[in-house]
Amino acid sequence: MMLSELVTRRYTSKAFDSSRKLSPAQVEEIKTLLRYSPSSTNSQPWHFVLAGTEEGKARIAKATSGRYEFNAAKVLNASHVVVFCTRASIDDDHLQRLLNQEEQDGRLPTAEAKQNQHAGRSHFVNMHRYELKDAQHWMEKQVYLALGTALLGASVLGIDACPIEGFDAAILNEELGLRQQGYTASVLLALGHHAESDFNKHLPKSRLPQSDVISEI
Ligand SMILES: Cc1cc2nc3c(=O)[nH]c(=O)nc-3n(C[C@H](O)[C@H](O)[C@H](O)COP(=O)(O)O)c2cc1C
Repeated sequence: MMLSELVTRRYTSKAFDSSRKLSPAQVEEIKTLLRYSPSSTNSQPWHFVLAGTEEGKARIAKATSGRYEFNAAKVLNASHVVVFCTRASIDDDHLQRLLNQEEQDGRLPTAEAKQNQHAGRSHFVNMHRYELKDAQHWMEKQVYLALGTALLGASVLGIDACPIEGFDAAILNEELGLRQQGYTASVLLALGHHAESDFNKHLPKSRLPQSDVISEI
């Protein structure tokens, strides 16, 4: 199937069939997509909480009460829900961990390569920390790349998905103890298979014309 067919076929599912679960192989594919998502300077400022049990999804659904009630059934009826979490800070421990991993993975064959990699990444991180003062915003942008990667990947895998920003992050941070672990919840992704009642399945997609959004120079 052409990629253009996949991106136009994918859509946001508004209702999931709770009886249809992702296969273990599909769950592994989703984990791989998340883990291998690209990020600026390979900073990987994220953690992903994957809920595949009724109990796990019910905990996440606590954050879809009140004004976010319209998203509760999506969380509860999906097969799996991913909580995309962003680091609260990009500290020196994390930078060291990234460097050690890259060395272990064979990307830094010499002491000089290791030094250069650390200096380059630290330069960007410190620019966002101390000059632009937008480190949190910068990290969250990387997390949204993982969301995009997972959305396209889900479509390739034949999995229906609903990205969800409509939830109370403070409630979810508390419920999952994210603050204590150095993270905050940024966005959710409900995954599964659509229900018959999914009205969005039958609506045409809508996008601005290509000439509005793409200029060629
Ligand atoms: C970051 C993000 C947050 C979203 N939050 C919600 C949400 O809380 N609830 C919902 O039903 N849809 C949500 N959506 C779905 C969008 O409304 C949908 O992607 C958009 O209308 C385009 O339609 P399509 O995904 O079917 O192509 C969200 C989408 C994105 C990318």
